[in-house]
Amino acid sequence: MSDSDTPRSSAGDDLDPQDWDTLREHWRRFVDLGVTHLEGIRGQPVWRPIPEQTLHLLARDLPKTPVSLETLYQEFSKLCLPYGNGNTHPSFFGWVHGGGNVYGAIGEMCAAFMNSNAGGRDHVAIHIERQVLRWCRELFGYPADSSGLLTSGTSMATLIALAVARERACQPHVAKTQGLKAFPHALTGYCSQECHHSVAKAFQLLGLGEDALRVVSVDESHGIHVPSLAARIAEDREQGHVPFVVITTIGTVNTGAIDDVPAVLDLCQQEGLWVHVDAAFAGALALGKKYRHCFDQVGQADSIAFDFHKWFQVPYSVGGLLVRDAQAHMHTFGSRKDYLATESIGLAGGQPWFCDFGPELSRSSLAIKVWFTLRALGGERIGAMADRHCDFAAGLARRIEDNPDLELLAPVRTNIVCFRYLHPDEELRDAFNRALVSHLQFTGRAAPSTTRINGSLAIRIAIVNHRTRMEDLDRMVDDVITLASHLSQPSLTDLLRPTHWHLMHGGDARLLVDPATGLNRYGCAPFLREHAYTFASSTATSVSGHAYEHADIDRQKLLHAAWEADAFLDVAREHAQGLCGDIARILGIHDLAPEIRLSPSGTDSQLHVMAALATIVDRPLISLVCAADETGSGTPFSVTGRHFDATTALGAKVPKGEPLRGMPYIGFHGEPLHDATGRLRGIDEVDGAIEQKVAKLIQDGQHVVLHAMDYSKLGCWSPSRHALERLHDRFGAHMTVIVDACQLRIDQEDLRQHLAKGFIVLVTGSKFFTGPPFSGAAIFPRAFDQRLREDGRDLPAGVADYLPGADLGSWHGKLAEATNRPFNSGAYLRWRAALAEMQRYYSVPVEYRCQALDSLCAGVIEAVGRHPFLELLFLEGESYFERTQWLGRELSSRRTIIPFLIRDEAGYLAESRVKCLYELLNRDLTMMLSDQMPHKMGPEAHAIAAQACHIGQPVKIAGRNTAALRISMGARAVAEHWQGHPQGYLQSVAGELKQVEMILRKIGLCLEYRLC
Ligand SMILES: Cc1ncc(COP(=O)(O)O)c(C=O)c1O
Repeated sequence: MSDSDTPRSSAGDDLDPQDWDTLREHWRRFVDLGVTHLEGIRGQPVWRPIPEQTLHLLARDLPKTPVSLETLYQEFSKLCLPYGNGNTHPSFFGWVHGGGNVYGAIGEMCAAFMNSNAGGRDHVAIHIERQVLRWCRELFGYPADSSGLLTSGTSMATLIALAVARERACQPHVAKTQGLKAFPHALTGYCSQECHHSVAKAFQLLGLGEDALRVVSVDESHGIHVPSLAARIAEDREQGHVPFVVITTIGTVNTGAIDDVPAVLDLCQQEGLWVHVDAAFAGALALGKKYRHCFDQVGQADSIAFDFHKWFQVPYSVGGLLVRDAQAHMHTFGSRKDYLATESIGLAGGQPWFCDFGPELSRSSLAIKVWFTLRALGGERIGAMADRHCDFAAGLARRIEDNPDLELLAPVRTNIVCFRYLHPDEELRDAFNRALVSHLQFTGRAAPSTTRINGSLAIRIAIVNHRTRMEDLDRMVDDVITLASHLSQPSLTDLLRPTHWHLMHGGDARLLVDPATGLNRYGCAPFLREHAYTFASSTATSVSGHAYEHADIDRQKLLHAAWEADAFLDVAREHAQGLCGDIARILGIHDLAPEIRLSPSGTDSQLHVMAALATIVDRPLISLVCAADETGSGTPFSVTGRHFDATTALGAKVPKGEPLRGMPYIGFHGEPLHDATGRLRGIDEVDGAIEQKVAKLIQDGQHVVLHAMDYSKLGCWSPSRHALERLHDRFGAHMTVIVDACQLRIDQEDLRQHLAKGFIVLVTGSKFFTGPPFSGAAIFPRAFDQRLREDGRDLPAGVADYLPGADLGSWHGKLAEATNRPFNSGAYLRWRAALAEMQRYYSVPVEYRCQALDSLCAGVIEAVGRHPFLELLFLEGESYFERTQWLGRELSSRRTIIPFLIRDEAGYLAESRVKCLYELLNRDLTMMLSDQMPHKMGPEAHAIAAQACHIGQPVKIAGRNTAALRISMGARAVAEHWQGHPQGYLQSVAGELKQVEMILRKIGLCLEYRLC
């Protein structure tokens, strides 16, 4: 390269602004914004949840080109500043978060101006840190030749201190060079059960293992029980272990207790153990008057860790460490390479370097903000604040003790108060107090946190913010008491119950879990059942962790919204409407503005629809059920407007088989798919019979309610799409079509077409989409709903036993009698869980969804075909195999339910044996089989026998004494494997087929040993 080719830099190549005056103006605006924010902090909510929209705006790709400072200003002020941690607010009482201070903030900004690397060398940041450490020595009584450094917090300071203690204990084997393996004994450390978890983490990281940290009990003041400590050390010595360190705490995280440090020091001196003092937050008490004496002897401890960012109010993050034995400290961390050589003079001077006292080489200048804070405020002011906070805590404790509804859960030693509200229902107490805390946070009133004291959930108040006044604490207690009185409505109280409770209620007794098996009568659980292989989407599936989590969040959101509004029905109605909107959106029919009526089940939905039709149709009604031999057992009742069970989902006792109050007589005709000999009738044959029957009924003056089957339990349908269209064209005015699409194996295109023709569509979120069982909905076309609303007549009064107030939607005002329950939280949350599955499914790109379904279905068919004792019910190329007439190409036209029959040497298994087999598959059979097997069960047989396999319930084949089992593809098998990109996706999906193989082998095992 010639000289002229050498690139020259020009103005603007560096990263500085071109116009410093403009920068200055912007800078000042940012400072103004921050100062104004802090000045007005008391008038702001303590915390606000970050809106989805804001998170969306924050999620940007890696920036390639610059944005203006004006844009950054706008984004910071609107998207960031309002959504902070809350700890600058006087009503922030959670965990142990310091409030920061404005002088420290100036220090932080000044440190950024200098941008020093405080790892070492000779510059002013090093000298300021040394100065700050000298102040620390003075405060805690450490000798002038002790070492120390500032850290990111007490967790890091403790890790470093314990590394030094470990190194000293291992000499001469030197953990540093040879590792702990070179030390022949197990090192053990000691702390109280109230010790902070950062100590256990340090043990993990130092290779000692958490078990080497012996946890000792506490006395009634929650300080370490020194006799137990002594006993445990002696016990370990007896066992040949090497005790090396005791961690003692001044200011425990749960209750603010103070260990008896002098007693611990005495013991450790006798035992020759390292004493580490954790004074993370309470270190600031050494600046005050009241607790100064607690620090009298800490200078004799081997090390002390403390945080400036907590009670000292220095902005995050900065903690400190002092170590008495500077040599040991330096020995543990000090080793350098050539590129870090020091000199006696020049920038490379300044020995010793801070990088020799900890693991970090590059370090920011943490000391400057501490220096600013201590100099601007003076230690006395900070000490007085800490003392005052302890007085506040004592005052708060008195107020709690004076109120019979509140209970103090631990003695108040310093600035932490743990208490709870005594909810009358003991079972709900923990949930209630947990909800109280999140409600205070959610509404921005205050931000306490929670902990457990002697097993009970406690509202934990840590007074650490310099802005906090006694009136802030008084207001918090007033809020707790007022909020508790709002939460007395039973429907609201129910929302405190865990989400799995709701998933079991508001449906059917079959949802209740048998405590012995942890399963309901569908063989599934309302909580994560990770170990089971699940291909039961044709019947019911255990909730996934993903869906449960979503439902749980929704339960809490609903609780908090209703609590705040104090008008439960309105809020529930709003949430139910929101849910219906979400269902319409995810199904791609939102623009058609359909009316969605939630229900616990498809059968309930049938009843809702019949009630609506009975209201507006003047002719006599008759239900014609297509594929009648493949619908639910309650259908003949529900489609004729009769109670299909003795108890409704809302818990009302009703006469099974009797018509609902106010319901007219409704006739019934069922058109089966099988004939009397068990033969599956052809599609055309069934179409013809239906068309004839409809024509006849209409001619007789009846209004036909045609219950079309758009995917039955076995994956069949009736009538065909063309027959349905012909019927609609011929008899539209005297016929209403209800499409049973409860399997929801139907695409948007077909769903839209049904609605466009005025058909009512029944769906559930619990079949293909694997939401929890009992989440149904009837989707009414807009025009139908309008007609119903405009009709002056009321719905049959008996519907009140089935429809809770919140779910009435546009039917509000059409039920003369009020419903006895305002809300079915179970149906709501089951749908929320289902929606989470639906969203996850549709977030996989369509081509991958289709490929995954293809490979899974083909894999199951192939696997079933390989087993001689199994026989597929439908073969490729036969009618009912795939649905070529339908519009949608994803679910509508794919066979995703794969039924098969089971044979043994005597022929097809009788229905009762299939039922037994189905139940055995879902259980651990190892005990049962080990009695039967001649030899000890091999590992492979053991694994098969133990595996819980949940597949579709048996379906009796009409006219034959056998039943089909089903392995069905559900949304979860497709969505769970998607990691946001196609790499490895299909291989991962194919892993599901190994589970299928295992299921089939388990069937083989059951047959071989005649378990059924
Ligand atoms: C007693 C105690 N020790 C250690 C820690 C950990 O300190 P840091 O969060 O600064 O790492 C805390 C934090 O709350 C604490 O309260």
